Amino acid sequence: MVTVTQKDQEGNFADILAICQRINSERDLGSLLDLIAREATKLLDCDRASIFLLDRERNELWSKVALGSDEILRFDAASGIAGAAVTGGRAINVLDAYSDPRFYTGIDSRTGYRTRTILAVPLRNQFGDILGAFETLNKRSGVFNRQDEESLLTIASHAAIAIETAQLIGALRHSQDELVEQNTHLWRQVESRYNSHGIIGTSARIQQVVRLIERIRDSVVNVLITGESGTGKEMAAKAIHFTSPRARKPFVALNCAALPETLVESELFGIEKGVATGVNPRIGHFQKADGGTLFLDEIADLSMAAQAKILRVLQERVVERVGSRGPVPVDVRLLAATNKDLEAEIGKGNFREDLYYRIKVLHIQMPPLRDIREDIPLLANHFLKEYGRENARSDMEFAPAIVLRLTAAAWPGNVRQLRNEVMRLAACARQSLITEEDLFDDPPMPMPAVKQQAGKPQSLKTAIEELERRMIHEAIESTRNNQQQAARLLGLSRQGLINKLKRYSLGA
Ligand SMILES: Nc1ncnc2c1ncn2[C@@H]1O[C@H](COP(=O)(O)OP(=O)(O)O)[C@@H](O)[C@H]1O
Ligand SMILES: [Mg+2]
Repeated sequence: MVTVTQKDQEGNFADILAICQRINSERDLGSLLDLIAREATKLLDCDRASIFLLDRERNELWSKVALGSDEILRFDAASGIAGAAVTGGRAINVLDAYSDPRFYTGIDSRTGYRTRTILAVPLRNQFGDILGAFETLNKRSGVFNRQDEESLLTIASHAAIAIETAQLIGALRHSQDELVEQNTHLWRQVESRYNSHGIIGTSARIQQVVRLIERIRDSVVNVLITGESGTGKEMAAKAIHFTSPRARKPFVALNCAALPETLVESELFGIEKGVATGVNPRIGHFQKADGGTLFLDEIADLSMAAQAKILRVLQERVVERVGSRGPVPVDVRLLAATNKDLEAEIGKGNFREDLYYRIKVLHIQMPPLRDIREDIPLLANHFLKEYGRENARSDMEFAPAIVLRLTAAAWPGNVRQLRNEVMRLAACARQSLITEEDLFDDPPMPMPAVKQQAGKPQSLKTAIEELERRMIHEAIESTRNNQQQAARLLGLSRQGLINKLKRYSLGA
């Protein structure tokens, strides 16, 4: 029996305390395992120490083969002395390894090491969950005693907590790395999408827009983008933002037409807590766009009151939340879009002239599709490729005749309508070559969507009449009253068109 003096015991406590402090300051799992093994070897005056961690999913124990090595050894969680300590949940002191049936000789035969004595204890966290086992091998003199057992159990309980923390930190670092990688990937996608601005077209009008956006890439002036609906105003705004020095800051879009008057202020500037019961505090779009770009779509639809407030933000570079006591500074570049004639709106008293000049430092006019017909084949093919990419149908193509039809069509809905039509054709096409026959599956093009008035059910007859009337009107407009051309666009005879014009009392 080995006796332990009080002095020995005090010295031992001090050593264990020092070890625990060192263990608790190591955050890297690999270094931590090495550290624990090294310290235990010294403290228990033995030859080796190993930590076996439990992999619950595979029900295996794993360990590094040797101190400082990265080679990993795995075995069934129930085998060996370590397995017995895990399964039994208590310390095991083996006086002669080779005469113990639980001893697993596999490791020795792999490493050439000769195990004589073993002391193994389970590794438990503060909740009593077993994380693995802690083993020391070959006491230098004699066999492991009670004090060794207690020392090892004490170190094991601290080691377990440190190991769990290190594992958690490792997992966090790993998911952080993944997020950083995903983020970089997304940025690359965004940049590749917009670095050529994503704006397609070789026509002079489109090239003018592209050149202008390139010329202002280093500046952050406010830009007014005008043009009919579907001409690419929002696309241009994104191109401006993503080529600007603010590209990595937020691009925040807000459609002013969709905002009920009662919400305008809180949406734009935010709202404080406690303004009214049931109102949650939130930050407004100006603050969301801080450092970046705010895109106000359909700006002509803002009330005069809202216009005045926006003007103030632009002048003073601060926002005041609804119900707040003080202004908050914001740094926002404003891009605004409208399909209305703002100068006419100013004339009618619907738009503030001072705000107009603030937002129109630079003006970009997006052309309607009928003015850039030469770009239609390019655009149509671009959208067909987009469809192919998204639907794994890279083989789709247009027959030349259908491209001619697309080029001649009226397109009151501009590029957006062309894009929708291409998507529809591609989705309905029977073969990879899209021909005119695919057109005649449905009523002939163009087929603008029938706008249903909100909440007002329409009979099919009135809906068709309305559509017909609108298409005829648009064809006449787009051909500047050339009845021959308009009839061709609509797929009617000249006389057929004249009859319909009379019926709908359109034109002369
Ligand atoms: N010149 C163009 N090149 C490529 N895509 C375009 C072009 N013009 C418009 N588009 C596409 O047409 C659709 C409508 O454009 P959008 O910017 O939303 O129009 P707007 O804001 O003027 O209503 C979008 O899918 C956009 O990407
Ligand atoms: Mg739009």
